[in-house]
Amino acid sequence: MLEPVDRDAGGRICKWTVDKHIIHTPNIAIVINPNNMPVTPLELKKDFGAEIIITNSYIINKHEELKQQALKQGLHKFLNWSGPIYTDSGTFQMYSQGVKTIDPIGIVEFQKTIGSNIVTPVDVFTFPDDTAAVAKRKLNETVRRIMAARKSISDRYLVGPIQGGMYLDLRKAACKKVAKIQPDVFAIGGIVPLMESYRFDELAEIIITCKKNLPFTKPVHAFGAGHPMLFAFLTAIGCDLFDSAMYSLAAQRDGYLTTSGTIPLFDLQEFPCSCPVCSKADVIDIKKLPKPEREVFLAKHNLYVTFQEMRAIRTAIRGQWLWELVQERARAHPTLLEALHWTLARHAKWLLNLEWVSKRSALFWSGEESGHRPEILRALEWLKRVKSKRKFTKPPFGKIPVGLKSVYPFGQSIIPGVPEPKIKTTPKEIFSATVDYQFGNSTSKRFKDVRLEISRRTGRIRRVYKDNTLLGTIRPADGFFVPTIEGAKILKGKIKKVKITDPEVAGIVSRGGSVFVKFVKPLDVIFPGEEVSIVDKNNKIIGVGQTLLNSEEMKQLKRGVAIVRR
Ligand code: GUN
Ligand code: ZN
Repeated sequence: MLEPVDRDAGGRICKWTVDKHIIHTPNIAIVINPNNMPVTPLELKKDFGAEIIITNSYIINKHEELKQQALKQGLHKFLNWSGPIYTDSGTFQMYSQGVKTIDPIGIVEFQKTIGSNIVTPVDVFTFPDDTAAVAKRKLNETVRRIMAARKSISDRYLVGPIQGGMYLDLRKAACKKVAKIQPDVFAIGGIVPLMESYRFDELAEIIITCKKNLPFTKPVHAFGAGHPMLFAFLTAIGCDLFDSAMYSLAAQRDGYLTTSGTIPLFDLQEFPCSCPVCSKADVIDIKKLPKPEREVFLAKHNLYVTFQEMRAIRTAIRGQWLWELVQERARAHPTLLEALHWTLARHAKWLLNLEWVSKRSALFWSGEESGHRPEILRALEWLKRVKSKRKFTKPPFGKIPVGLKSVYPFGQSIIPGVPEPKIKTTPKEIFSATVDYQFGNSTSKRFKDVRLEISRRTGRIRRVYKDNTLLGTIRPADGFFVPTIEGAKILKGKIKKVKITDPEVAGIVSRGGSVFVKFVKPLDVIFPGEEVSIVDKNNKIIGVGQTLLNSEEMKQLKRGVAIVRR
């Protein structure tokens, strides 16, 4: 079960329940290789805050001693980890180590027997240079194997790997076919070679194609990703879960991970990091360590960077500045920046469905790609709703009605070289422009004789009354009008609606209770962050609130809150 709790850009924060455990996504499952464990699962939990691990059932099954232990003790005892365990099937080893055959039924049964929480069928790894015919054959075989695995895996989570190679039409077909089988996680496969060769633009195209064709109800895992440099970008285009052996593979090659790339240990004169291991060590001493100890040191640093980045990403989502973080990270490599630029340019329309209509935090212009940000695109679209004689100019928006000077994103965008314009406006001008901007052309006419209460401290509109009835407030952070039920009545036909048909739930909601997605039916195309009215089965307005979910998500999701009340 997946419960979205927050979001930003094309990404989200969810609570993902696996058996009795809750995993906070975006998150990473650290790869445990039972043959080489520079850091133990116990340490991962204690020192790094890991919530889930992933191990390879093929490797365990291949080594007789490991196999016997895992069978005897069960996987959790065997790895000394009480949290959720994801097992991969060995598909990747067929690619990376030339393993020829894995019994697809046997290895699924083995995962089940040793007590894996999340079981992966043996998908058929597709290479970037596979022909369309080969990719199609592999995809169909993958689908057959997922189907077979679903029959035997009914009380565990099952992974639905998405193959299809570089062919976006095949990726789309894979998503449709795999979704029908109803796995519990979707995992986008065959992408490691793209990441290894810095083909980030093609990687993004594949992921976005999949995201467009997968339901919102299950986490999407980017198989084998990877490097902390990529996590922010991949989260912003909708990945919920990562897994990686990178921390250990890099350590084996004396690689020191940072969010802007990997540095060879022997190139370092000092540690540019203050994680618990780096802050206590001298680089000269570390270089002199015997290889196995050096590897442990580097694996730990690499893990600290990895988990720190996951926390930074979740923090950016909560602060609504994930794009800013992504733009910063994209400077790590020109091909990553290029991928970001093209992703924004090509997929702005898709991103608009996932993006907040307004944000608490300022939009920072930090390079050419900023011009393609979905927030700007929406602003340009919504500007057409507002008629005004008096305008000011602010790039990249062009001419803006003066009444919108403090409305998101016009007042909140920080564009280097563009001074804050000095504009005189009246509260009436501000209120009219704001209402038209949010609710459409000439909506403000309905609010002709309202009284605007001005804050003495800030000089800005605080509350909006008709006679003594409160119609709404102006939210200081984004300048948006937040209607009360009385305000929503005036906005009828203009304000978007959701319906709650269950009378008992409607009763709870009318008394201010939470609006759970399970009971909500959207009546319009709704974006995250819009002010909407909540109606009962007789279309009576029983509440107002700000949406956390878009209308498509409302239709699909079963868990969590759809609308935030105040
Ligand atoms: N690990 C990295 N890539 C893949 C993949 O395509 N399939 C599976 N099962 N595991 C992977
Ligand atoms: Zn460090």
